[in-house]
Amino acid sequence: MNWSAGPESPVLAYREVHVWRVSLDQGLERVKELKTTLAQEELDRAARYKFDHHRSHFIVARGSLRTILGRYVRTHPSDIKFSYSSHGKPRILPANVNETPSFNLSHSGGIALIALTLCDDIGVDVEYSKRSVRDRKIAERFFSNGEAKALEDVSCDLKKEAFFNCWTRKEAYIKAIGGGLSCPLDQFEVSLTPGDPAALLSVKGEPGASSRWWMVALRPAADYVAAVVVKGKYYNLVCWDLGQ
Ligand SMILES: CC(C)(COP(=O)(O)OP(=O)(O)OC[C@H]1O[C@@H](n2cnc3c(N)ncnc32)[C@H](O)[C@@H]1OP(=O)(O)O)[C@@H](O)C(=O)NCCC(=O)NCCS
Repeated sequence: MNWSAGPESPVLAYREVHVWRVSLDQGLERVKELKTTLAQEELDRAARYKFDHHRSHFIVARGSLRTILGRYVRTHPSDIKFSYSSHGKPRILPANVNETPSFNLSHSGGIALIALTLCDDIGVDVEYSKRSVRDRKIAERFFSNGEAKALEDVSCDLKKEAFFNCWTRKEAYIKAIGGGLSCPLDQFEVSLTPGDPAALLSVKGEPGASSRWWMVALRPAADYVAAVVVKGKYYNLVCWDLGQ
């Protein structure tokens, strides 16, 4: 997967998915610069972070999101306006263009990913794979019976990879549908076995759901696992790095 430097004026074609990689560990000057693009509610949220590095990661993620969206809708990052669904999923309020992209953001460790498409609902999830075994045990409780069994069947040396495949694919799907924590995680199944293609396998009570969603696995950096999910089929994926 090639993460080359992203363009200043990207054009999102129909049936394309763009994923931007952002490094959250930035110097003070860059953090200050990005902070000037945030809205008051985002500054208030940043101020509530207890630890400086969490605060600056939030500022860099939001500021970079505004920078990237601004490139697509050809406006200054601070002029981007968001609306939020009842479960908190942000969307761009209609801008002065004919087609406004759908987007989703995820951050973990020192990386954020921002995924965009013109087509439909989109979700992305990235996880730092050096998280504690305790975190992994907690998350495993939310896997469906089929996923738990598939994980059990994976050889010991591939278990961690299989776990993160499952976690990121499940999270990306619930982020695509936008349900947040209200979504019953054991009511749908994703593939997880290393080497198998990323896929939504089934959704309880929704026959044929698996054929209505496109899913792809990403490796944005060593020790990071990610997945993108979009409603529909046959997307062309393009990956870019924001640089700073
Ligand atoms: C938002 C949620 C869907 C994901 O949060 P997360 O994994 O902690 O964080 P991520 O970095 O991947 O995503 C956060 C971003 O998603 C976006 N977001 C917020 N609410 C969202 C929603 N309902 N749907 C989609 N995206 C949402 C925002 O841009 C947010 O960024 P911000 O925090 O800077 O505002 C949240 O509901 C959640 O915590 N889910 C956890 C479910 C779980 O227990 N999974 C166990 C493993 S299977």
